[in-house]
Amino acid sequence: MSASYRWGIIGTGGIARAFAKGLSLLPEAKLVAVGSRTRAAADRFAQDFRVPRAHASYEDLAADPEVDIVYVATPHILHRENSLLALRHGKAVLCEKAFTINAAEAAEVFALARGKGLFVMEAMWTRFLPAIVKVREMLAAGAIGEPRWLQADFGFRAPFNPQSRIFAPELGGGALLDVGIYPVSLASMVFGRPTNISAKARLGSTGVDEQDAIILSHDGGALAALNACVTMTTPTEAVIAGEKGLLTIQAPFFRSRRISLGLNKLAGLSEKRMTRLRRAARMIPAVSRLRGRLEGRGGRSIRAPYPGNGLQYEAAEVMRCLHDGLTESPVMPWAETLAIMETMDAIRAQWGLVYPGEKR
Ligand SMILES: NC(=O)c1ccc[n+]([C@@H]2O[C@H](COP(=O)([O-])OP(=O)(O)OC[C@H]3O[C@@H](n4cnc5c(N)ncnc54)[C@H](OP(=O)(O)O)[C@@H]3O)[C@@H](O)[C@H]2O)c1
Repeated sequence: MSASYRWGIIGTGGIARAFAKGLSLLPEAKLVAVGSRTRAAADRFAQDFRVPRAHASYEDLAADPEVDIVYVATPHILHRENSLLALRHGKAVLCEKAFTINAAEAAEVFALARGKGLFVMEAMWTRFLPAIVKVREMLAAGAIGEPRWLQADFGFRAPFNPQSRIFAPELGGGALLDVGIYPVSLASMVFGRPTNISAKARLGSTGVDEQDAIILSHDGGALAALNACVTMTTPTEAVIAGEKGLLTIQAPFFRSRRISLGLNKLAGLSEKRMTRLRRAARMIPAVSRLRGRLEGRGGRSIRAPYPGNGLQYEAAEVMRCLHDGLTESPVMPWAETLAIMETMDAIRAQWGLVYPGEKR
């Protein structure tokens, strides 16, 4: 790609800093501006990342004529407002996950982007990593047969602070929108929109979901069992199984550098031979181990390394789409972001969790 694209970032927190580092790996990307609620934070960020233009308001960043693409890196509750602001100023937008706090807000952002013919994409960065690209290729090639089973979790222990964006309801806090979205998005990528949702949560003292257990069912009978939490560390592994085998996206699956493929070599064996093998496995440990291998446990490991923190891949997708004159990414299309938000709305509805001032 020969064109170069000028980026501006709204917000100066943890992910804004990580994104600036990721962007620095892309020669076609220039980080030209940053916008903060405060002059001091804008100047500090500009100094740390050698950004030429520091704005003391999000409005000034969005209005900056030197900026082509705005990356929204604020708490979820502000994503709608910040994305609309950037679109109104004619900018392309990459907006952090969760894209908004609910589907109605997401629809509003897409409607404006459509009306203005502008690009917008949810920053579901995991989807663009080499490991996940490989998973999509392997599933499409039928490596495990038809995927029917998915298990994924994302739990980490956040220090409890009722004012933080993780725990504060007024900032869109809770496990689902912050980390649960990763397994929900993975299930959407593999199976599409669920037909039935069953979800339980443990709501904490601030009223947001601290621990979630979600089961999604899909046309054709595929099931996904998903867990998320912000008070405990969990394995953070994802496994997708089909009749021919299973794919493991090794932990942490949302930034994995390795997957493994186990092929069920017993698939297709006659019932008679299976019975014989089962009997032998019960009696002889070596046969039992062999049976495990034949059933796909263990598996072939496939490396999917990448340089840096991996955030460069979603940024590269934005620039590729702009270069090709697209307003949405075929890898993370608007309809899918909307469907994911609708799924999360339906999950939260089962818990009675509504954010302050939320219109639905
Ligand atoms: N892709 C990923 O791996 C990943 C990782 C972490 C987070 N995220 C997403 O990125 C977003 C930001 O997360 P983060 O961890 O970067 O949060 P953070 O460290 O708290 O930073 C958020 C920034 O937003 C701005 N902001 C505006 N209003 C705010 C308010 N009322 N309270 C706090 N900050 C406010 C602040 O920047 P100014 O003061 O400069 O205006 C702040 O520095 C979230 O939507 C989160 O889901 C994504």
